[in-house]
Amino acid sequence: MPCSVIVGAFWGDEGKGKIISYLALKDNLDFCVRTGSVNAAHTVWHDNKKYALHMVPAGFLNPKTRLLIAAGANVHIDQFFKEVELTQVDAKRMGIDQNASIIEQKHSDQDKASAVNKGIGTTGWGVGPALEERVRRTAKLAKDMPELKPYLCDGIAEVNDGLDEGKSVLLEGTQGFMLSLFLGGGYPYVTGRDTGASAIASEAGVGPTRVDDVIIVYKSFITRVGGGPLPGEITKEEALKRGWFEVAAGTGRERRSAPFDFDLAKKNAKINGATQAAMTKLDVIYPACKGARKFDDLPQDAKEFIKEVEKRTGVPITLIGTGPEALDLIDRRA
Ligand code: IMP
Ligand code: MG
Repeated sequence: MPCSVIVGAFWGDEGKGKIISYLALKDNLDFCVRTGSVNAAHTVWHDNKKYALHMVPAGFLNPKTRLLIAAGANVHIDQFFKEVELTQVDAKRMGIDQNASIIEQKHSDQDKASAVNKGIGTTGWGVGPALEERVRRTAKLAKDMPELKPYLCDGIAEVNDGLDEGKSVLLEGTQGFMLSLFLGGGYPYVTGRDTGASAIASEAGVGPTRVDDVIIVYKSFITRVGGGPLPGEITKEEALKRGWFEVAAGTGRERRSAPFDFDLAKKNAKINGATQAAMTKLDVIYPACKGARKFDDLPQDAKEFIKEVEKRTGVPITLIGTGPEALDLIDRRA
């Protein structure tokens, strides 16, 4: 997997952070590049520690992985420094592309003051207003901020030169495909950018022909925060009964939930050009799976569910999450 894109299949919170942290550790990734902005929290559990990362790439667990924030990304400076402290990554391995833009407090204030955004249920971080400012060509860039100087780099050149040298690169998507500004069909209940696989590569400055694998991340049930339609939505009471009830890692908001949607899974795999899929939280719908690391150790009903998803999407499920810890995973790639 010299160059892989990780894309969320539904409305975010599919468990991309967990899959990325596993790949960083197991595949000894050379580069992990975070796209998007501070609104997304990627959760990583390892050695009994939980990290909710809004800025630092989820590949940080591997000390050999070079961590980059993409040119198309949006940097929240305070949050970035909080996470540098939390993850103890030093300026030698952590780089911010000099042309990434800056998201400021005023953007969050504008976001929270907007009645439209209240209806959409934005995270309130201000990503929409920050991107608006970038489009107006009045945004500050990382290279304008003296405190970021030790981290500044040409991330685009690094990654493309790395690919020339055969190094492995993982492009870390944020949010889910259904929150794409353009492609999921959910406008206006969407985030401020395209969250599809091509956009993830584009934000990092990687051309489409350089991408080898697109890994779409499914969760065994679907969740969504904020407003907008959620086909098949169940009540909170029902979600609690089934063990599907979740609270957002980043904002503390309650997530709405619905059963796995095979047709949506198939459609989104096609639009994103998925070559492989990950399935997270299999242990939530089949508790007997918890902690399993071999496909043969799964109960029959769980195996059948995986096979059914593969049959109906046409995409092999190569990575299966069976618990929150980064290494609680069945790896079927070999
Ligand atoms: P914004 O991205 O903060 O503008 O919010 C727009 C929509 O995207 C809202 O429905 C948010 O709940 C949703 N959203 C943004 N980031 C995430 C995320 O990381 N996980 C899930 N939903 C998100
Ligand atoms: Mg999240």
